[in-house]
Amino acid sequence: MRIGFIGLGIMGSRMAANLIKAGHELVVYNRTPNKAEPLVALGAQLAGSPEEVGQACRLLFTMLATPEAVEEIANGPQGFLKALPGNSLWVDCSTVNPSFTLKMAKLAQKIGHRFIDAPVAGSLVPAEKGELLFLVGGDVTDVSEVQELFDIMGRATVHVGPVGQGTSMKMVNNTLLAQAMVAFAEALRLGTSLGISEEMLCQTLLNGPTAAPFLKLKEAKLLHKDFSPEFPLEWMHKDLHLAGVTAYEQAVALPSLHTTKEIYAQAKQSGLGEADFSAVYQLFSTNKTV
Ligand SMILES: NC(=O)c1ccc[n+]([C@@H]2O[C@H](COP(=O)([O-])OP(=O)(O)OC[C@H]3O[C@@H](n4cnc5c(N)ncnc54)[C@H](OP(=O)(O)O)[C@@H]3O)[C@@H](O)[C@H]2O)c1
Repeated sequence: MRIGFIGLGIMGSRMAANLIKAGHELVVYNRTPNKAEPLVALGAQLAGSPEEVGQACRLLFTMLATPEAVEEIANGPQGFLKALPGNSLWVDCSTVNPSFTLKMAKLAQKIGHRFIDAPVAGSLVPAEKGELLFLVGGDVTDVSEVQELFDIMGRATVHVGPVGQGTSMKMVNNTLLAQAMVAFAEALRLGTSLGISEEMLCQTLLNGPTAAPFLKLKEAKLLHKDFSPEFPLEWMHKDLHLAGVTAYEQAVALPSLHTTKEIYAQAKQSGLGEADFSAVYQLFSTNKTV
């Protein structure tokens, strides 16, 4: 079966490549078309619009930056939703907020399509290796229809619950991820101010129980001040904004989340938006590269 894939950034390009390498036929689209070139070289067919992708398949993945991008691509003037044949399945892997996911699911269902939210945990390297963790919301039968594809792109799938629950779990996950990164950056700053080297701090803290396990993956970036993007900081800021919107909708108070969001806003404002989110350390470090 031909599969549509829209959004060929850091994550989508690698996820789509793994599907092609596993033998699937893909029709792809990206707002900036030249990012599709490596996939076309692997055998993908490049569509000129999201609508063209919709016309060419009945199973379609999106991996886009923001809710606004998802809405435009799905339901804009050249959106794919109206072009898909009836009873198609749309799998949105973008990190968006739960209420937006429910809105998209309703829109798809109104037109006669099925919808799964399947955001991912894991960054550039897991995406490349096919080792992502899929956090999924949707009907059991719909999820089982695409399980084989999740297995190609990921190491595990957690079917959290009905539509919206994958996105909900992702919001929770990134709330923790963002705060753990800032907490570690502050700890490094305190330690270096007391005369302990960054190397000694990393070696001690990252091999003990207090630091979040993912921070080990950021050690080289922190020590070498190489903040080439795996997970762009601007998207972490976006996720915290969306988590804040969700907290408001749910009437829950998350003061630490909001403070953390503003720390990432400061980092973005100081020109670090396109760097990896671990570059938030640059706000605290005395040994800056920017
Ligand atoms: N990188 C990670 O580690 C990671 C991990 C888990 C989840 N995520 C989430 O996965 C999603 C994609 O992230 P990424 O890292 O792959 O980001 P990225 O490299 O910046 O790619 C973003 C994609 O969205 C497209 N896009 C952005 N605005 C658009 C618009 N207004 N209209 C149409 N297309 C638009 C981009 O098209 P252009 O190429 O034309 O800009 C690109 O295809 C985000 O929701 C992110 O939060 C990322």
